[in-house]
Amino acid sequence: MRILVTGGAGYIASHTAVSLLDRGHQPVLLDNFCNSKPAVLDRIEALTRQRPTLLKMDVRDTDAVARALREHDCQAVIHFAALKAVGESVEKPLAYYENNIQGTLSLLAAMRSSGVKTLVFSSSATVYSADQPMPLREDGLLGTSSPYGRTKLMVENILADVAAADKTLSFTSLRYFNPVGAHPSGTMGEDPRGIPNNLMPFVAQVAVGRLPRLRVFGNDYPTVDGTGMRDYIHVCDLAEGHVSALNHAHGRAGWHVFNLGTGQGTSVMQVLQAFSLACGRELPYEVVPRRSGDVAACWADPHHAESTLGWRASRTLEMMCADAWRWQSANPMGYPD
Ligand code: NAD
Ligand code: UFG
Repeated sequence: MRILVTGGAGYIASHTAVSLLDRGHQPVLLDNFCNSKPAVLDRIEALTRQRPTLLKMDVRDTDAVARALREHDCQAVIHFAALKAVGESVEKPLAYYENNIQGTLSLLAAMRSSGVKTLVFSSSATVYSADQPMPLREDGLLGTSSPYGRTKLMVENILADVAAADKTLSFTSLRYFNPVGAHPSGTMGEDPRGIPNNLMPFVAQVAVGRLPRLRVFGNDYPTVDGTGMRDYIHVCDLAEGHVSALNHAHGRAGWHVFNLGTGQGTSVMQVLQAFSLACGRELPYEVVPRRSGDVAACWADPHHAESTLGWRASRTLEMMCADAWRWQSANPMGYPD
C-alpha cells in the first residue's frame, strides 16, 4: 500500500515508516518540521535501504495535501501530525485547537476530494476519564482535563460521526499509552525540543549529563512505591501496531478503536532503576511535589488489539531503556540540523 503519513518526520511516525517499509508498504511522509528535523530521513534510508518521499507541507494546506494524495496515488493515511505537550496546551489552547482540530478537518477534506477512504489516527490514553479502575478498556468512561486531551477526544468524535455518515469509510483510532524507547540500532529515537516533559527522555538526558537530576513528581500516590505508574510501550511495538491496524482497516469500513499498550503498570522508580541498569550507573534524583494534573496510575487492557488485530507488545522495560540509552548516548544532542 502507498500511505500518506502526516507528521512523518516525528518520533512515532519515523519508527512507523521503518515498520511500513520493512513490510513492503510505501510511506509518503509529510511534515512541517515544527517539532522534528528532515535529517531523520537519512536514518530511515540507512536502516531500510529505501528513501521515502518527504514533503515539507502543513497538513492544514488542504489543496497541497489533496494534490499529494493524488500524485502519490495513496490508498490510506496515518495521521500523526499534532502538537502534543499537555502543559503548553494549557498556555496556548488556540494553537492546539487550530493545529490538531483544523489539521484533521483539512486532512478529511483532502481525503474526500481525492477519494481516499482509510484513515488511522494517533489518539491517546488521555481521552479516558481519570477516575476509573485499571486497566482501561476501550469502552471505559471518556473525559479529559487538558486542551491537548480535548483535541484528541474531539477528533475522535469527529471521525466517528464522519464514518457513521459514510459507510464506505474505514477510520481507526489508536489510543497510545506511554511510547518510549528507540530503534535498537541507536540511530533513531526521541529528540524533544528544550527540556523534556516526559519521564523517559528526561531520564535519558540525566544519564548523558545534559540534565543534573530527575525530579520525581510525588511519592505519596497509592501505588507500589508511591510514585506514579504508567503503561510504557516500546516505540517499535507501537510502530508495528500501526501496520496491523492498517491491515485490519483496509477494506473493512466503519469506526474502530484500539488501545495500544502492554497492559502492565510501571512506577517512576522502577523506570529509573531499569535505566540505571541500562546505562551502568546510579542516576541522581530528588522527590518534589506532585505535578498538577497527573493521575496516580494509568494502564491499558490490550486484549481488543490482541484478539482483533493479532498484535501485542513484546518488548520489555529493559529493552525500552537499553534502546533509549543506545540512541541517547550515540546522539547526545539528537538529530543534526
Ligand atoms: P512528534 O512531535 O515527534 O511528531 C509529530 C509530528 O507532526 C512532528 O514531526 C511535527 O513537526 C509534525 N506536525 C505537527 N503539526 C503539523 C502540521 N500542522 N503539519 C504538518 N506536520 C505537523 O510527536 P510524537 O510523539 O511522534 O506523536 C505523534 C502523534 O502521537 C501525535 O498526534 C501525538 O499527539 C500522539 N501521541 C503521542 C504520545 C507520546 O507520548 N509521544 C502519546 C499519545 C499520543
Ligand atoms: N514524571 C516525573 N518526572 C518527570 C517527568 C515525569 O516524575 O520529569 C512522572 C510523572 O509524574 C508520571 C510519569 O513520570 O507519573 C510519566 O510521566 P510522563 O510525562 O512521561 O507521561 P504522562 O503519562 O504524564 O503523559 C503521557 C503523554 C501525554 C498524554 C498522557 C496521558 O505524554 O501526551 O500520557 O495519556 F496526554
